[in-house]
Amino acid sequence: MSAFAYLSSLLQDRYVASVMPTSRFAVEKICSRIDLKTAQVVIEFGPGTGVFTRALLRRMTPESRLIAIERNEALCNLLRRSCRDPRLHLYNDCAGNILDVVRRSDAGQADCVLSGIPFSFLPVKARVELLRNTHRILKRGGQFIAYQTFYQPPGHLRAPLREIFRVVNTGYAILSVPPLLLLEATK
Ligand SMILES: C[S@@+](CC[C@H](N)C(=O)[O-])C[C@H]1O[C@@H](n2cnc3c(N)ncnc32)[C@H](O)[C@@H]1O
Repeated sequence: MSAFAYLSSLLQDRYVASVMPTSRFAVEKICSRIDLKTAQVVIEFGPGTGVFTRALLRRMTPESRLIAIERNEALCNLLRRSCRDPRLHLYNDCAGNILDVVRRSDAGQADCVLSGIPFSFLPVKARVELLRNTHRILKRGGQFIAYQTFYQPPGHLRAPLREIFRVVNTGYAILSVPPLLLLEATK
């Protein structure tokens, strides 16, 4: 179901940027990097069919909130139908509107932002602005984690992250299909 949903959405919308959901191996590895037992607000950019969304919700506390922003309307509707957890606040919007979404959701600052969107598709100005706004909505010490396809020129994400965030670390999930580059930044 998920692979079919991706493929049919990708044919109409290149921003879907994947033919299948992220593998369970990578989802586990990435979620283990986030302290979800204490997180009150987590934001997800580009949940797609929700492989991370469900994994995050399984680990989050009953009082916490997950704000997910999905640009593709069909994927957003699919996720809305398949995940009815009241802690999930799902918006059919662009991550670029993060400040407005957070204002509307009345969530306050976030402990973590997890992103699966293809940053390399965004024009440089929009990319840097999104990173600055992401930094703005994070609590002090909050984490921004982005997973991207394995090869990315350093200038796409790493370099602007290093200008905006206090600490930036790089990791890999090479056993994932496709292999992923992980960038983890701390405010
Ligand atoms: C590579 S897929 C990852 C999907 C899912 N998180 C996963 O790991 O399987 C990228 C997702 O981000 C969404 N997306 C792309 N650009 C976006 C943007 N600017 N704002 C919000 N969602 C976006 C796409 O529609 C797609 O669902």
